[in-house]
Formats: sequence, C-alpha cells, structure tokens
Amino acid sequence: MITLNDIYKIYVNGDTTTYASNGINLHIDKGEFVAIVGQSGCGKSTLMNIIGCLDVPTEGTYLLNGIDVSTMEDDELAEIRNKMLGFIFQQYNLIPKLTVIENVELPLLYAGVDSDERHEIAKKALERVGLTGKEKNYPSQLSGGQQQRVSIARALAGNPSVILADEPTGALDSRTGREVLEFLQQLNAEGNTIVLITHDNTIAKAAKRIVRLHDGSVVYDGPSDKDGAVVQAHVSFDDDPLLKNKKGGKEK
Ligand SMILES: Nc1ncnc2c1ncn2[C@@H]1O[C@H](COP(=O)(O)OP(=O)(O)O)[C@@H](O)[C@H]1O
Ligand SMILES: [Mg+2]
Repeated sequence: MITLNDIYKIYVNGDTTTYASNGINLHIDKGEFVAIVGQSGCGKSTLMNIIGCLDVPTEGTYLLNGIDVSTMEDDELAEIRNKMLGFIFQQYNLIPKLTVIENVELPLLYAGVDSDERHEIAKKALERVGLTGKEKNYPSQLSGGQQQRVSIARALAGNPSVILADEPTGALDSRTGREVLEFLQQLNAEGNTIVLITHDNTIAKAAKRIVRLHDGSVVYDGPSDKDGAVVQAHVSFDDDPLLKNKKGGKEK
C-alpha cells in the first residue's frame, strides 16, 4: 500500500544542509497500525508530509497503492489526498463557521459527491464516532474530545486507504486521549490502515508496529511490544557510554 524507497528530504539554508529524511525505506501494508516516533526534530513531520502527499521528497520514490506520487505536481497531489488519505490533526482543523455535519461533508464536496449522498455519508460517519444528534452544532459547542471525533468522522467519510493521525491526542487530557487511541485501535480492527505520528512513547504503544526515527533515519522498525521499540524518556544513548551502542535511538 505504502512503499518508500530511499527517501531523502534535504533542506538547504545558506550554508546549512539538513537531511530531514535521510534515506528512508519503509513498507506499510493494508490493515497495519504503525506509529512513527522520535524526539523533536527527528523528521516525523517531514515524513508525515511525504506520506500524506503534502510534500514530495528531494530524492527517492513513493508508491501509494502502486502509483508513483513522488514526482507529482500540487494539483495531482491534492487529488490523491482527497481520494486516498484521511487526516487527523492535533488541533482538529475544523472550520468554525461550518456545522459539525458540514465539516464532515467538506472533503466529499471537494470530491464532487452530490449533496444528498454527502449528507448520508457524513451522517453515518458521525454515527460511527458516537456523535449522532450533534450534526447541527458548531465545533465551538463541543468538547475537545468531541471535536477530535468530528475530525475522525471527516477522515472516515472519504473512505480513505490510509488514515494519517499527527499527534491526535496532543491537545486532549489523558483520559480523552486514551479514548481517541482506543477508537483508532477499533478502526484498525475493522480493517483501516492507520499511521500515527507522535513524540510520546506511551501513545505509540497503541500501535502494533513502531518506526523510530533519529536524525532523519529509521533506527527501529518492529513490533511495539519488543525491547528497543520504546526507549525510556530519561535515557540519552549518546550521553551514556554503556548504552551508546544499543539499538533504539535516543530520547531527550
Ligand atoms: N522547511 C524547512 N526548512 C529547513 N529545515 C527544515 C524545514 N522543515 C524541517 N526542517 C528541519 O528538518 C528536521 C526535521 O524536522 P521535522 O520533520 O519537523 O521534525 P519533527 O516533526 O520530528 O519534530 C529539523 O532539523 C528541522 O529543523
Ligand atoms: Mg513535527
């Protein structure tokens, strides 16, 4: 479903060159639940933007459902995003002036789905996230957890191949965050492919597979319950000579 071959994203600013993605190889199959983790600045957002077709790599190829999207122009990328990807953001990214159901309908509007069908699909998506009865409310009238569920409904409405969640619990209290993670696990159990981006090891544990980045490279890729998947937050591998050569990258 997702195949990244030797992906580089290189930023040049004056005489500073940053390898935000430094030769990433990654394959994600249909039905997987993968967390991309690592400390701030390791390249998570860069990779998320590439996987989410919001940006293209400097070098390397990216196949999404067999389609090479790595050299596409902006308008083609927008179409791919609309057809194949569902996004969940930390700040929900709902439009305040639109009602809950209008927010969920919006991507379908862009996709050219007619009004009746749009309404029907959005209604079902809201039912799935437990928000029946809130269709006519505005986002500001809902709690943070409910707003995040609206954004999940919006992601689901387009029936995407992949759901990309970037720090989806970052703005929520821990109990509500836990509920959102459980909901993502449920969606995965129903067959949805999920890529979760987080700096938080505890949250990453909700996924089945963890991909850990460090300085733009993958330093761990495997089950979330294995040694090395989750590194204690207080341990700095670079600073500790005994840990220095251990696999798993470092945390702040
Ligand atoms: N537009 C940009 N121009 C220059 N450097 C960038 C740009 N975007 C990101 N970077 C650099 O690339 C590295 C990875 O950034 P990012 O992907 O945002 O990491 P993360 O999301 O893990 O915090 C960082 O060193 C960051 O400063
Ligand atoms: Mg980031």
